[in-house]
Amino acid sequence: MPRIVETIVTTANAKGEVHIAPLGLIEEGARWIIAPFKPSKTLDNLRENPFAAASHTDDVRVFAGCVTGRKTWPLVPLPAIKGGRLADCVSHWELKVENVVEDQRRPRFACAIVHRETHKPWEGFNRAQAAVLELAVLTTRLGMLPPEKIENELKYLEIAISKTAGPREEEAWSWLMEKIAAWRQAMFDEAAGKS
Ligand SMILES: Cc1cc2nc3c(=O)[nH]c(=O)nc-3n(C[C@H](O)[C@H](O)[C@H](O)COP(=O)(O)O)c2cc1C
Repeated sequence: MPRIVETIVTTANAKGEVHIAPLGLIEEGARWIIAPFKPSKTLDNLRENPFAAASHTDDVRVFAGCVTGRKTWPLVPLPAIKGGRLADCVSHWELKVENVVEDQRRPRFACAIVHRETHKPWEGFNRAQAAVLELAVLTTRLGMLPPEKIENELKYLEIAISKTAGPREEEAWSWLMEKIAAWRQAMFDEAAGKS
């Protein structure tokens, strides 16, 4: 299995409007693959303007926020390419698309790092941060995965939150749990409507 790094990807359209989304970048030799599902704004932007920035942040609220409709995070311009990166990040890469492998579901954009910078020290691992990332991914697949799988994983991830979360992780978790609550309600309503 290739190594995948979970980052905040910013892309820009032809007009220079920046879009932000969490994506996993897949390591392939010296290149990093961005693989956006169809349809997505990230995919459209990469076709219009084949560059992206990957912001590596320890603030998991950005991941949870982006998948719960909170997409406004402070950005700053990039030195080497058009677009922006997260103002608050540990480091960032600026990426240039060098090759595209088309796919019906998920095209793969192979990118070279054309510029990289470090902005602040990395403060170490935290289990609650990992739990937030896992739940954020799960919430993007609520309609696709069996409900029992979601509930079982949630039970396990809650342990790391209760033992190790700080205020940022708790806030991120609460946003994701609002989404989970809405999903549970929708399933309940659907079942009630059918009975
Ligand atoms: C940690 C994490 C990793 C993700 N990785 C991917 C990915 O590799 N490809 C993808 O299409 N979506 C991924 N997603 C889901 C996207 O962030 C989400 O679907 C997003 O809205 C992309 O669509 P957009 O470009 O239209 O905003 C990921 C979400 C999270 C929380």
